[in-house]
Amino acid sequence: MRQRVEVVEVDITTLRVDAIVNAANSSLLGGGGVDGAIHRAAGPRLLEECRTLGGCPTGEARITRGYDLPAKWVVHTVGPIWWGGRNGEPNLLANCYRNSLTLAREQGAGSVAFPAVSTGVYGYPLGPATDIAIGEVNKFLESNVSPERVVFACFGTNRVQCLYEGPVSLP
Ligand code: APR
Repeated sequence: MRQRVEVVEVDITTLRVDAIVNAANSSLLGGGGVDGAIHRAAGPRLLEECRTLGGCPTGEARITRGYDLPAKWVVHTVGPIWWGGRNGEPNLLANCYRNSLTLAREQGAGSVAFPAVSTGVYGYPLGPATDIAIGEVNKFLESNVSPERVVFACFGTNRVQCLYEGPVSLP
């Protein structure tokens, strides 16, 4: 299993993988953080396609083409805003990873890269978010042969350390 998961400190928009996951908001019309970076790198056609999707509820995911990105597709998922952990945030964040992987698999993506969804503007504490991310990816890969490869694209050293020293060891 370990060979199917990688942790890399990298700008996700530069990755030549089949699909990158965007930490979007429910409008799917762009924003800051990784959402802004992905839209800038993909070009205006990404927003044009996103406009046709009619938004996305928290915990769900939608897929578009990658346009000017090296990645073929972008899976847009909407993570939960952190309100202290008693508003269903853990389940919603788990749904983001599971639904993103399901969409990517259905699209035939062999490699998928995730940012640390909800841990920026949405304020999800990094440790618990990392626990959920690795746990959900682990669970999905144990029962699915595709995607063959999942990359955690960490932005900022503390995120890489967290993933390696986090509460859940990498598979
Ligand atoms: N590559 C990889 N990871 C990145 C990049 C990048 N280029 N840019 C930012 N990140 C990381 C952040 O360091 C953070 O760990 O993505 C993680 C998620 O942070 P945000 O982008 O702020 O996303 P999130 O916390 O889910 O909040 C989503 O912020 O940008 C808006 O439109 C977005 O409203 C939505 C909200």
